[in-house]
Formats: sequence, structure tokens, C-alpha cells
Amino acid sequence: MALAKKVKRAYPFVDLVRFVNSGTEATMSALRLARGYTHRPYIVKFRGNYHGHADGLLVEAGSGALTLGVPSSAGVPEEYARLTLVLEYNDPEGLREVLKRRGEEIAAIIFEPVVGNAGVLVPTEDFLKALHEAPEFGVLLIADEVMTGFRLAFGGATELLGLQPDLVTLGKILGGGLPAAAYAGRREVMEQVAPLGPVYQAGTLSGNPLAMAAGLATLEILEENSGYYAYLEDLGARLERGLKEVLSEKGLPHTVNRVGSMITVFFTEGPVVTFQDAKRTDTELFKRFFHGLLDRGIYWPPSNFEAAFLSVAHKEEDVERTLEALRKAL
Ligand SMILES: Cc1ncc(COP(=O)(O)O)c(C=O)c1O
Repeated sequence: MALAKKVKRAYPFVDLVRFVNSGTEATMSALRLARGYTHRPYIVKFRGNYHGHADGLLVEAGSGALTLGVPSSAGVPEEYARLTLVLEYNDPEGLREVLKRRGEEIAAIIFEPVVGNAGVLVPTEDFLKALHEAPEFGVLLIADEVMTGFRLAFGGATELLGLQPDLVTLGKILGGGLPAAAYAGRREVMEQVAPLGPVYQAGTLSGNPLAMAAGLATLEILEENSGYYAYLEDLGARLERGLKEVLSEKGLPHTVNRVGSMITVFFTEGPVVTFQDAKRTDTELFKRFFHGLLDRGIYWPPSNFEAAFLSVAHKEEDVERTLEALRKAL
């Protein structure tokens, strides 16, 4: 199928692709596959990373390097949440310790390679290194690129950061505005999915021609316009510089985290590296920032723990208008 070929071109480590309808289905199915492949029960996720609303992923955690997950939604049984171990993002030592102690029980680590769902968090080099030690313990690495795929580069964060995951999950841009998502990876793992293997997964609307056509058209445009990514980087850098200038002029504490077209202003002194750091942001100030912009015609994402996104529809003058609105609001 043509769209699968595009995915393979974007992610050269991918041999086989399975289409589904949403990011939630992609991560849920990738985790079932990891458990089926490894015959292990536990998964690891990171605090502040969001992977959709499958039961085992709606899990919060308390403090400590390793916490047994407790549900963060009604309707998720504790017995099930306990199979999700929640660690701190950007804590390589915490991850190494858990791999050493529990590695043989863990099927997979799922992670946002650049976090958008806690506001933007950028992975440190040592954290990425620790993630890539997972295969030594037979643990699969799942890069959840539902948000970053085709956004940070044509090959997403995997290309940008040189990642080597076993599986990747994709959604959002993949369907060009229609419901399409996918999980994909090495043949040996993907061949475990039915009908080739024993891990069941199917869906009436999976790979439906309408969504595939929209996705294909979108990826063709992205592939033909490779300059888009440099454009978004320039525009993002301009926005980042401007935000820092305006907030410094007003003497407000701030940290701007950005990768390409994903950007967050945290209202706290930096650095903001972990989810704990992100939670130090002054959410009252964020509310005033948000409404001040909205009153002047700029719709920033309504939570401080959500990335703002630039698109190629945005022009330099949109960035200038945003900065001008912020200056007035402040
Ligand atoms: C990184 C990530 N994974 C998974 C999902 C879930 O995708 P969906 O909303 O399509 O179910 C999201 C949604 O925002 C996401 O950002």
C-alpha cells in the first residue's frame, strides 16, 4: 500500500506497518504486541507523557524512582494499572536502576521522544542513551511519534535525534486530518500480529481508503516540500526569541522550551527538564497570558502543559502579531 511505503521511507528501520484509526489504538496495539512478543507483563511509561486513553496508559504515579501505577481515571482497575511502571522523564539513573532490578519482567518502554503533553520537554542525551540500553534487557523501545511524526522532520524525532526504536506509533499528521494512525517496526516483531502471528488486532475502518488517501496526499506534499522543516525552525526560533525578549522586558520569570515547531513558555526560572520542573510553572500567570492573547485575537493552547504548534500556514507577520499582542497584554 502506498501510504505504508511513505511510512517506510520516513522511518527506514520499519519493515511492516499496521494501520489503525487513532493514536490511542496505535499505542494500545503496540503494547499488546510488545507483551505478546516478549511474554512479559510490565510496561514502563514516563510521568507527564500522554499516549492516549487505553486503560494501561491512564496511569499516574506518586514520588520515587519507581512507582507502581495507580489509575488516573475512574474505570481503570488498580490491578491493571499496577502493570504500568511510571518513571520520571529525563532521569537516566532512575531508568537504569529499574532496568537492572526489573528488566526481565518489562515488555516495553513507551516514550514521547520530544514531550508535547507536559508542555515541551526536550530529552537529554544521557536519557536517550539510557533508553537505548533497553535492548540489553530484552525490553522493546516504543517511540510514540503520534505528535512528533512528520512534524519535527519527515522522519519525526527518530530522524532528528537519531533514535533506534523497535516500534514507532504514528497518528495525527499521518491521516492529513482524517482518522488514520499506525504502529510499525521491525519484521521480527511485527510478524507477531495476526494473521501472521498470535497477537490479535483488527478494525473495521483500519486502512480505509478515504483516510489513506488524505494521509497520502499530506505526506506527498511534505515530501515534495522538504524546505518546510527549515522554514518552521526559523519561524519557531523567531517566536522563541521574541517571547524571551518581551517577557524579559517585563521582568517576568520564564523558560521557553522549543524543538522546531513545538514550543512552550513555562513561567518559572529554568531549566525545565523534568515534569516536576514543568509543574513549577506559575499557572495563574499562564491564565493571564492566555486570556491576554485571546482578547487580542491570538489563540494559544489553553493549558500550560500543552505545546503550541507552528504550521506552514503561519507567516512571519503572524509571529509579529503574536508578540505585539503579548506586549500589549502584559
Ligand atoms: C504522543 C501522543 N500519543 C498518543 C496520542 C493519542 O492519540 P489520539 O488522540 O489520536 O487517540 C496523543 C494525542 O494527543 C499524543 O499526543
